[in-house]
Amino acid sequence: MLNSSYNNSTNNVTIDFFQLNITSFQAQIYPNLGKTSLLGYNGMSPGPTFRIQRGVQSVIRVVNHNDQPAVLHLHGSNTRAVWDGWAEDLIQPGQYKDYYFPNSNTARTLWYHDHASMITSVNLFSGLAGFYIIEDAEVETQLGLPQDQYDIPLALNSKQYTSAGNLTSVAGETSSLYGDIIEVNGQPWPFLSVEPRKYRFRILNTALSRTFVLSILDNSSGKVLPLQVVASDSGFMNATVTTTTLTVAMAERWEVIIDFSGYEDRNLTLMNERNVFDSIDFQETDLVMQFNVASAVSSNINNNSPPSSLVSRDSPSPGTFIHRTFNFDKQNDEWVINGVPFTDVKNRVLAAPQRGATEIWVLENHNSYWSHPIHIHMVDFQIMSRSNGRNTVESYEKAALKDVAVLGPKETVTIAVTFAPFEGLYMFHCHNAIHEDHAMMDAFNITAIQG
Ligand code: C2O
Ligand code: CU
Repeated sequence: MLNSSYNNSTNNVTIDFFQLNITSFQAQIYPNLGKTSLLGYNGMSPGPTFRIQRGVQSVIRVVNHNDQPAVLHLHGSNTRAVWDGWAEDLIQPGQYKDYYFPNSNTARTLWYHDHASMITSVNLFSGLAGFYIIEDAEVETQLGLPQDQYDIPLALNSKQYTSAGNLTSVAGETSSLYGDIIEVNGQPWPFLSVEPRKYRFRILNTALSRTFVLSILDNSSGKVLPLQVVASDSGFMNATVTTTTLTVAMAERWEVIIDFSGYEDRNLTLMNERNVFDSIDFQETDLVMQFNVASAVSSNINNNSPPSSLVSRDSPSPGTFIHRTFNFDKQNDEWVINGVPFTDVKNRVLAAPQRGATEIWVLENHNSYWSHPIHIHMVDFQIMSRSNGRNTVESYEKAALKDVAVLGPKETVTIAVTFAPFEGLYMFHCHNAIHEDHAMMDAFNITAIQG
């Protein structure tokens, strides 16, 4: 990735400059099949992983060498609306756009991906996604979590190929594509050699339609290992939460500490549950990847348990909040929010919260079959309650701020959202990218504080 810095002499601020070229390329994903045509950033899928220090500003120039329009969205970032990847703000083939990011969020795992109107699912399935990590040296040194080679991003995916080795076409799908091939960082069912010590994994679900429910199994003893969840979509949680199963819906990020000590010379399998929401299972969709534990540790630096309390943060201040209800449903073969598809330009701005205000949003899914991971651009929110369906807020959700909340079949999820830091028009949508492309997306307009 091209990387240069330039000095803005008026403010004496350094802004890091990067360039991402969208190109198609061929990769040998399967040993026995033909090569697969993919789309990538700088010839890679997933694209290059950014690690940016909090507060260091960046500009990313995205050059579109593909024959279809593209849009870049930095998911979870505090970004001004003009650079937030509005779905109709297309980079046409042969053009480029410069995106500016202040990187003012607290330390967290963001990801960048395509957001082009009606073809997000096609571009995403073809490979246009990557990690963008905001680091905060001060906070992270204090927490002493595993770092460097012990801090590993894992992008989960679920793909489907033709017998010739190409990806199946997404273009004709109107509801979901689950895929029978589970991939991590672009490789089907990979293995990772690890040392018998603690690791920090940043788990992200980049699949179109498949939600994962993960656990780690020691094949020889049948024992399930604890996952210590330390961070969510919105960075460090207020407390470490230990769990044995972790639900990761599309676009969600969960960071876990896994301790491989005591498992010297063994193989552990990252497993996926069957029958998760509407996901359709295939022969090996219950397997994700394998960890091959070595016999010895080469470094004990930051080989610590996470502290039980991580970061403190303000909870929404008491007050009378505006309540809004949004119903995610299917109407006349279109996926809609409160009956409004994204194509309904006149009516698609569904809310105008004041900048800085906290509101209570009730997200409803009355359907008894479909699930919808709902993402609201720019903001962090707290999940307050979930009724019907699973009827519970998971222990790790309670300790987290989020930018995605998954609505299982029939579920209603109530969230407290603070609309900050910027004014402007932003999208919210289902992150089943096929539902999103078929109009389950609308907008809200953050308005000036009324004096
Ligand atoms: Cu992950 Cu609107 O995006
Ligand atoms: Cu959906």
